Amino acid sequence: MPATVVVGTQWGDEGKGKLTDLLAKDMRLVVRYQGGHNAGHTIVVDGESFALQLIPSGVLYSHTVPVIGNGVVVDPAVLLAECDMLEQRGVDTSRLVVSGNAHLIMPYHYELDRATERALGKNALGTTKRGIGPAYADKAARIGLRVQDLLDEKIFREKLDIVVREKNAILAKVYNRLAMDFDEIADQYLNELAPRIAPMIGDTVSLIHEALEDGENVMLEGAQATFLDLDHGTYPFVTSSNPTAGGACVGTGIGPRDVSRVVGIAKAYVTRVGSGPFPTELDGELGELLVDKGHEYGTNTGRRRRPGWLDVVMLRQAARINSLSEIAITKLDVLSDFDEVKVCVGYEVDGERITRVPYHQSVLHRVTPVYETLPGWSDDLSGATTTADLPKSARDYLRCIEEHAGVPVTYVGVGPGREQFVQFHQ
Ligand code: IMP
Repeated sequence: MPATVVVGTQWGDEGKGKLTDLLAKDMRLVVRYQGGHNAGHTIVVDGESFALQLIPSGVLYSHTVPVIGNGVVVDPAVLLAECDMLEQRGVDTSRLVVSGNAHLIMPYHYELDRATERALGKNALGTTKRGIGPAYADKAARIGLRVQDLLDEKIFREKLDIVVREKNAILAKVYNRLAMDFDEIADQYLNELAPRIAPMIGDTVSLIHEALEDGENVMLEGAQATFLDLDHGTYPFVTSSNPTAGGACVGTGIGPRDVSRVVGIAKAYVTRVGSGPFPTELDGELGELLVDKGHEYGTNTGRRRRPGWLDVVMLRQAARINSLSEIAITKLDVLSDFDEVKVCVGYEVDGERITRVPYHQSVLHRVTPVYETLPGWSDDLSGATTTADLPKSARDYLRCIEEHAGVPVTYVGVGPGREQFVQFHQ
């Protein structure tokens, strides 16, 4: 059975956790393919809220095997804390498998993330300061430590010795920061963390292929989103990995022909945390209303998210880059009670109207959105379970999205709960 990819189509926080949880019901494996604990997924089960950072959402079902793929960067202390939190709340984490090829986030990665952000001053990217960028930089520079290195003390110490020397020189000479202690890091990783992580380490590539060959359902779960992608996002205001669907193949070890379905998650409006261009950003009262109604504060960092109207120019671009087969719209309920709702269907720039994302980013910074305005709705959508339960204006809004994005909408989220969704077009 070919795999299903779940990917964010905006700047993250689209509500992927809820959708992956919903789809995980029919999955045998749920695999994270990139990012690290910069992600924050909230899933509400029977009124109980679970905030996950690293472990795939599928962990909440006893029939799924949650897998952390090779494309992920792992802070083992965070991973263990997340396992402990879940275990304390009665969730079994013993099925979790972590790729030996995934890279480790080390203490100096946090230090460098903070130092580079500070040095960038007003040009700071607004990272989550979790060491994500520096960990991927070391991976590309081929000096990263991998999860499998935890299994071999000699190799771990050899590699760490070289890297710590380099990082300490950079921290001291470039950023005027204190040196990191080799022994402290080696002791923490090898003596405290490795014994607990070791039983989780496995050959995830074979595991995934065997599941596919056995006809099992496999889901590849992305973190962050299309416009935070290192290659396709609003660089440099991006994360350091590839959340787009292509990254799902690289980050798990399967080929494109092993994927048959790509579900793009789009919030009914848009939010972004951190810096970077955002054509439909809303200042003032309307924006405040969206933030308040949608509780748009980071699961992870608590930062207020920047709000804006839905941008289908970007959504269409996301549909192309990810070869989306369908779109799931989340948080449609948040748009209730607006007199009218707007969808950005094009941009105006230098007296010209364009309907694609400009490749030159300084153009994207100065575009003016062209909106299609649709009537709003005042109904409470939180109890809707079928398309017919949605008011006409809400259905028209969804059809407008389908038409412009060129991809069918299949799921519509109408509240935080596991059951609060509509299978559109039923
Ligand atoms: P980093 O991933 O911590 O390096 O941060 C780079 C950019 O990605 C910043 O703008 C972050 O706010 C953003 N970012 C990273 N992870 C998430 C996420 O899960 N949701 C939304 N934005 C994110």
